[in-house]
Amino acid sequence: MNDTPLLTLDLSHAEGVPLDAAAADVRKARATLESGSGPGAKMLGWLELPRRQPATELARIRSLAERIRALEALVVVGIGGSYLGAAAVMRALSGPFEPAFPVLFAGHNLDADYYKRLLAHLRGKRYAVNVISKSGGTTEPSIAFRLLWGDLSSRFGPEELERLVVVTTGASPSGLKRFQEQYGLDMLEVPDDVGGRFSVLSPVGLLPIAAAGHDIGALLDGARKAMALVRDPARGDVSSNPALAYAAFRLAAYRAGKKIEMLSSSTPRLQLLAEWWKQLYGESEGKGGKGLFPAAMSLTTDLHSLGQWMQDGERVVCETALDVTEGAAIDVPPIAGNIDGLGYLDGMPIHTVDRAALHATLAAHRDGGVPSLRMEIPRIDARTVGFLLYFFEYACGLSAYALGVNPFDQPGVEAYKKNMKALLAR
Ligand code: PA5
Repeated sequence: MNDTPLLTLDLSHAEGVPLDAAAADVRKARATLESGSGPGAKMLGWLELPRRQPATELARIRSLAERIRALEALVVVGIGGSYLGAAAVMRALSGPFEPAFPVLFAGHNLDADYYKRLLAHLRGKRYAVNVISKSGGTTEPSIAFRLLWGDLSSRFGPEELERLVVVTTGASPSGLKRFQEQYGLDMLEVPDDVGGRFSVLSPVGLLPIAAAGHDIGALLDGARKAMALVRDPARGDVSSNPALAYAAFRLAAYRAGKKIEMLSSSTPRLQLLAEWWKQLYGESEGKGGKGLFPAAMSLTTDLHSLGQWMQDGERVVCETALDVTEGAAIDVPPIAGNIDGLGYLDGMPIHTVDRAALHATLAAHRDGGVPSLRMEIPRIDARTVGFLLYFFEYACGLSAYALGVNPFDQPGVEAYKKNMKALLAR
């Protein structure tokens, strides 16, 4: 089982996507990324994250996580890259029904109703807050943190507060940093050379993931496996390197006139991974009037919603499908007298039916003019998820450089902030 590759790509449905020219550009992009000679190169710290976390830092993260788990809940306060990675991993690794340590999110919206209900839900509870902001001054998490700090400090004294709140932020001076220093709160540092959307494998993601009870050692191990594979200098072309192949597929599809990349998967456990992926590719590539729009769909749920458009709408979409090969052992039970007419499914593993739906969908989409790349992963566990995180990050770096944009800035995000400040300051 351990020898099973953690990722296998299938390009057999990528018709009409001329990979060769794109592959040459992606190879150049890889040289740019690896030599640190491209735009934004001072933000390449994420490349080494899986193996650069000092053992002492990991031990500290684990011990903070244990302290948090002794409480009733954790509220993770952050937006964008400061929460999506942790949320994605937690959703992937926690089942929908099993009891898990309660982790709530805040600071990722400004919905007054959400906060009113959150505070009501937390009333009387002894909970921890991990406030995460690299810049330490983002409006949404700052407001959410004020609310939670207000609640906690009305109920607990300074010594207790020190045990309830952990600040994850950058080393530069900021409002959040001043707060942390003034109240002597525990702090985990966001490395200077790692941007928000590339930070899930840093303390940004690791503390909440560990607090939720997941194995961050296995997550980092999976990421190291991806790192060893995709950065291997001997794997310099699309046939041997899945990150090159994925980046080439995206670029070739874009050049062939596709405007949207749909990430589809058949397990609800990967829904938030798709949200994380959307931010990674949307914020890294959508600039200068360029870039595939990252969208996501859940199978088979959305076959009864977006399926019609995918099959028959404007032909501007390509598809990347996550196909999990192993599934839980549960079969379709036979029913007396084949009353519902589905007797041909009797005794069939539900996972087989699910995968058949995915494969049938990809074939139908190909016939309908949607080229696809299928990514096969053996199972969803901490290792495979760690692998996917690093794989997608590395391929994103390649893809953005091949497209001719700086993957590591987000100038467009400032526009709404400027307008909002002007409106509110009036
Ligand atoms: O990827 C990014 O850099 C952004 O999405 C940030 O993570 C997001 O804007 C939050 O920023 P901060 O952590 O500074 O509050």
